[in-house]
Formats: sequence, structure tokens, C-alpha cells
Amino acid sequence: MKRILITAGPTYEKIDPVRFIGNYSSGKMGMALVDECLKDGYEVELVLGVVESSMFDLNQKNLKVTHVVSAEEMYGACMAIFPTVDCAILCAAVADFTPAEVSTTKIKRKGDELVIRLKPTNDIAVALGKIKTSKQVLAGFALETNDEMQNARDKLKRKNFDFIVLNKLGDAGAGFRYDTNKITIISETEEKSFPLKSKNDCAKDIIAFLNLKNLQIA
Ligand code: C5P
Repeated sequence: MKRILITAGPTYEKIDPVRFIGNYSSGKMGMALVDECLKDGYEVELVLGVVESSMFDLNQKNLKVTHVVSAEEMYGACMAIFPTVDCAILCAAVADFTPAEVSTTKIKRKGDELVIRLKPTNDIAVALGKIKTSKQVLAGFALETNDEMQNARDKLKRKNFDFIVLNKLGDAGAGFRYDTNKITIISETEEKSFPLKSKNDCAKDIIAFLNLKNLQIA
């Protein structure tokens, strides 16, 4: 049985005991990938950020869920799981920056401005790209607002992905929280654009592409 690691959802980066820096990722695209991978006979290791979990069925055969909150926790979980899988699709919207210091008490309103210093998080994709073996397939997502193709191609290289799924924030019905998405799958030699579809149908296209890549290296 093929094993896959999927990351999904946003990360929350703590500012103080009641506040965080997050993003609008709902986890829907990642969960669509989970559903379709299970149907396709994969054993799935899901590393899941903070999502509305009542929206999803997390108790399924061949599905193991690791819940995480911060980018650092997601990094730790992925580094532990990745050596045990055949492939990974990184669908999570991971924070690129996290507060340099977390206040232990609620920050009070005072003065004219509040400055929160941020430090970069570990890039999980880059880290997995470095330890990837020749038998593993690694794929990621790119959500772009401008220079989409060029940015996606740069990420493909920088993160050592075998392929990247580009979704454009500007496209109607595509991206965060929608049930539909419009994707382009890009590898070093291929570029396939798909029309607007349900996230489950997008997941099917992505898995068909993944299965081809898995076959090529098997
Ligand atoms: O650089 P950017 O965040 O746009 O790259 C998106 C891709 O990289 C996604 O696949 C995302 O899951 C992954 N990523 C990651 N760790 C980060 C940031 C992004 O794995 N710290």
C-alpha cells in the first residue's frame, strides 16, 4: 500500500495568550486530497493545522491525523513522518513569519503603535526537499497574486518539488474557502491547466498526475 503525507490548513502563530497570526486557509483542498487518496487506495498521514474539524470526517480507515497549531509543530511532525512515506503533497498554508517573542500576558493597549517583531519560520517544503530520496515524490502548492507562472516555477526549483499546483487568487471561485478551484500543474517539463472544478475533482487530477510520477520512479 502506498503511503502519502498530506499537510493541510493554516498555521497559527502565537502573539500572546489570546492572539495569533493566521491566514484564511480552510483546509478544504487538503481534505479533498485526503478523500481522493483514500479512495485511490493510499494510506494517508495527514498533518492538519487549525481547521473547523466538524466540516471533515477525520475518522476514516487508513487515515492517521496529527493535529498541529504552529509552523514549528508542523515542521516537527512532517520531518518525523516524511521518511516513512512514498510521497507528500504540501497543501498547508504555513506562516512564513512568527513572532520573535511571545508575550506571556495579554498585550495591553498603550501608546500610538504596537510593533511586533517577526522571525522567519522553517520552510517545511525546503527541508523535505533536502532529505527527499530518489524514490520519493514531493509536491507543493503555490497561491500567487502576481507573476504566477514565474513564481511557481521558482518555487518548484527552490523547494525541490517534483511538481507544483498553482492556484491563482485572482480567479473567480478559486482559492481560500471556496469549494471550487482552478489549477495548473507544473513540473520541470510539463504544464497542464484545468478549468474551474470542485476541489474534489481538482484532487483527482492532482492524484492522477502524482500516480504517473510515482510510476516513473517505481
Ligand atoms: O513559499 P510559499 O509559502 O508560497 O510556498 C508554498 C508551498 O510551500 C506550499 O506547498 C506550502 O505548503 C509550502 N510551505 C511549507 N513551509 C513553509 C511555507 C510554505 O511547506 N514554511
